[in-house]
Amino acid sequence: MSERRIETTTSRTAEWTCVSRAASSLESDSCYRSDDRIALQLVPTFLRVLLHIPLIRRFCCQVIAPKGIYEYTIARTKYIDGIFKEVLAKDFDQILIFGAGFDTRALRFQAETGDTKIFELDVPITQRSKLDQYTKRGLRIPANVKFISIDFDRESLSEKLEEAGFVSGQRSLFVLEGLVMYLQAESVDETFKVIERFAAEGSEVVFDYVRGPVLRQEGMYYGEREIFKSVAKAGERWNFAIEDEELEQFLKSYSLIVNDRKCGRDLEQLYFTNASGDIIGRVNATHCLVRATKPASLPAESSV
Ligand SMILES: C[S@@+](CC[C@H](N)C(=O)[O-])C[C@H]1O[C@@H](n2cnc3c(N)ncnc32)[C@H](O)[C@@H]1O
Repeated sequence: MSERRIETTTSRTAEWTCVSRAASSLESDSCYRSDDRIALQLVPTFLRVLLHIPLIRRFCCQVIAPKGIYEYTIARTKYIDGIFKEVLAKDFDQILIFGAGFDTRALRFQAETGDTKIFELDVPITQRSKLDQYTKRGLRIPANVKFISIDFDRESLSEKLEEAGFVSGQRSLFVLEGLVMYLQAESVDETFKVIERFAAEGSEVVFDYVRGPVLRQEGMYYGEREIFKSVAKAGERWNFAIEDEELEQFLKSYSLIVNDRKCGRDLEQLYFTNASGDIIGRVNATHCLVRATKPASLPAESSV
């Protein structure tokens, strides 16, 4: 495998996601507003100032950005925030955030975290730059949070977790937000095998995937051409996708069942319907969000 951009420079897609969350935290419309005020502290000062201007915010996030990707990022943040809060309320033992980028949940939800341990995993350069930003902005890292640097395509996840004190057989939430599409198929397989091996019954996984036809560039989905070009331009091309109809079987092969799956239109209904019942934002439809559980035993047939 040749050298990839994420080995030498902070992940551009992680930076862009952080900018979107920062922008979204400033929106006045509740459909567009999400709660990540810490993201706002992590973006460069000049950009923070500019993002306060609605026209510039719109230009950055909705005019030059791939169609519907701002809306998708907002919906994904809200969806995963909801699950994060739910598992904290249920006193899960551990939360693992794979490909964490500039995810700020460990800080944003520290009041609710209790004894839950949080592990954040990402490539060294991106992780370093996030930690540098935390230091620069005076953001204190809670004692329950551990950072593990790893390249999922080149290093052993199970060894890294064991070294870091991850305890297997405990009830855990695994968050893979905007990650699996960037990995090699073998690394995705290895990651899900580790989840299968290490997670106790009742553990949950939340992740998103790129839909099969997108990788084949069939032009089926809203915003497809723009986002495909844009990630390739960022030097972080997509390698992995799942066919919608194969999702259930994919998860079953790792002893997981699908609890919920939300794609473009579902996310519009859920997050972009205003008080009058009108949909006010279109969501990029190239991805789907999935919530899965490790049950005590797998049912013979399950449906989404
Ligand atoms: C689109 S960003 C998402 C970041 C974060 N989850 C979020 O939603 O804000 C993709 C993240 O995956 C990480 N990533 C991509 N390939 C990786 C690999 N081979 N090993 C570890 N991390 C990787 C990048 O460094 C980046 O932080």
